[in-house]
Amino acid sequence: MSKTFDVVVIGGGPGGYIAAIRAAQLGLATACIDDWKNDKGGPALGGTCTNVGCIPSKALLQSSENYEHAARHFGDHGIAVKELSIDVATMLRRKNTVVKQNNDGILYLFKKNKVTFFHGRGSFAKAVDGGYEVSVTGTAAETLVARQVIVATGSAPRALPGAPFDEDRVLSNDGALRIPAVPARLGVIGSGVIGLEMGSVWRRLGADVTVLEALPSFLGAADQQVAKEAYKAFIKQGLKFEFGVKVGEVKAGKKGVSVAYTNDKGAAVTLEVDRLIVSIGRVPHTAGLQPEAVGLKLDDRGFVVVDEQCRTNLPGVWAVGDVVRGPMLAHKAEEEGVAVAERIAGQHGHVNFNTIPWVIYTSPEIAWVGQTEEQLKAAGRAYRAGSFPFMANGRARALGDTTGLVKMLADAATDEILGVHIVGPYASELISEAVVAMEFKASSEDIARICHAHPSLSEATKEAALAVDKRALNF
Ligand code: FAD
Ligand code: NAI
Repeated sequence: MSKTFDVVVIGGGPGGYIAAIRAAQLGLATACIDDWKNDKGGPALGGTCTNVGCIPSKALLQSSENYEHAARHFGDHGIAVKELSIDVATMLRRKNTVVKQNNDGILYLFKKNKVTFFHGRGSFAKAVDGGYEVSVTGTAAETLVARQVIVATGSAPRALPGAPFDEDRVLSNDGALRIPAVPARLGVIGSGVIGLEMGSVWRRLGADVTVLEALPSFLGAADQQVAKEAYKAFIKQGLKFEFGVKVGEVKAGKKGVSVAYTNDKGAAVTLEVDRLIVSIGRVPHTAGLQPEAVGLKLDDRGFVVVDEQCRTNLPGVWAVGDVVRGPMLAHKAEEEGVAVAERIAGQHGHVNFNTIPWVIYTSPEIAWVGQTEEQLKAAGRAYRAGSFPFMANGRARALGDTTGLVKMLADAATDEILGVHIVGPYASELISEAVVAMEFKASSEDIARICHAHPSLSEATKEAALAVDKRALNF
């Protein structure tokens, strides 16, 4: 006997679980299918983000930052720490607890909002009168029928050709989050977001970290002034980078990994490390979904093809999050999930792709929204730029963290804010003001005229806005 719903969501990551909650809030009978298993085989809702992404990485970043503060910075405050040590097993247990709190939180939210949850794999079976039949295989076999289906099956790590992940020596994000002891030498392939965050975690705990990057420059997607500032800080901390490399053979043994590569001068080099993180991007995940059973169209890279509104080629089938085009970010997936649920309910869901913030949770943190100076130049747009260093901010001095700056870019004629780029303490939190301002089409003068609490890091944003008009007060 099949069970009928208004909406079936396949995938319980940030895109899927949020879509399911919003659909249920709007009065639609909603089911969500997710196959992630915890170490006991039970459900672990939240997808990549909660289980092996955003949440555990931030837990380890926090632990390792605390360790680094104790090792390097407590002395400045007159605090002496004798015999500092790190118990990696405890750190990993704490991270697992944080993950479980989030898994359980989503299960609770499903109950609260009356979303019916199925733990197992969801596959398209066939199109039927009035919608689609979706089979669930796993803890219990079920057949669901729904007029509307939301695909939110996420992404998976991309492996280097010839070097499959064994999660012991050659690590994806999953293995990188559960290395059992601090490796003496850690290799990282790819200086993107995961490489920087996970490289920072293990570097802070004592690993000698070398990052190999194929491209000739650092963080090409970021504003280059901000990227340069961050790069200087990472080098000072001891992270090592090689750019313009071509990675060749990767040999994983019982005790280590050797990585053969050609450097930017064409010389053949071999890097010997204890463990290797491969973070060279992610690929859409549709394994087991059986898109062919209903004719769901994928592109040649495996992404589900959608329009601006997340509609697929099939009526009543939508797709959101990492499995579709656009940045692979949890908050982008969530916004799409909400918008799709609202469209299904006959409302006008909306996602503004121009104001999706990016954050890299290293120290200093890097965050931005809108366009970079390089993009504005390439587009031939006339702009004015203002920046303000945290060195001149009282709160940053009190925190003992004065690295970095806030930079604001505004249209030369209208003064509308076009981009804000931050490298420095709590950039992840500070960027929200810029996102709100851009959503409301604020000008730099608007920010400059708003009262910001003193002493606070947010005053650097106000000062950057003042600097657009060359009238910063504290610099
Ligand atoms: P996912 O989170 O991948 O969820 C998809 C879910 O669907 C999974 O549970 C999967 O098992 C399930 N599934 C797949 N196929 C089926 C099926 N056929 N049947 C049933 N279930 C299925 N983003 C940020 O915004 N901020 C961060 O700080 C951040 N940190 C990250 C750190 C790391 C190490 C990584 C790897 C990623 C990070 N991301 C971060 C990216 C973020 O995790 C993803 O953008 C986000 O998880 C995408 O959500 P999603 O719902 O599209 O897919
Ligand atoms: P990424 O796309 O951020 O970076 C991959 C890097 O690897 C690029 O610099 C690329 O040039 C390089 N590269 C690709 N192939 C290579 C090769 N063969 N040899 C050497 N270098 C190579 O991908 P990453 O770090 O794997 O992360 C995947 C995604 O997960 C991110 O793009 C982001 O969407 C998401 N994420 C978001 C986080 C956040 O928001 N804080 C944190 C971590 C991940």
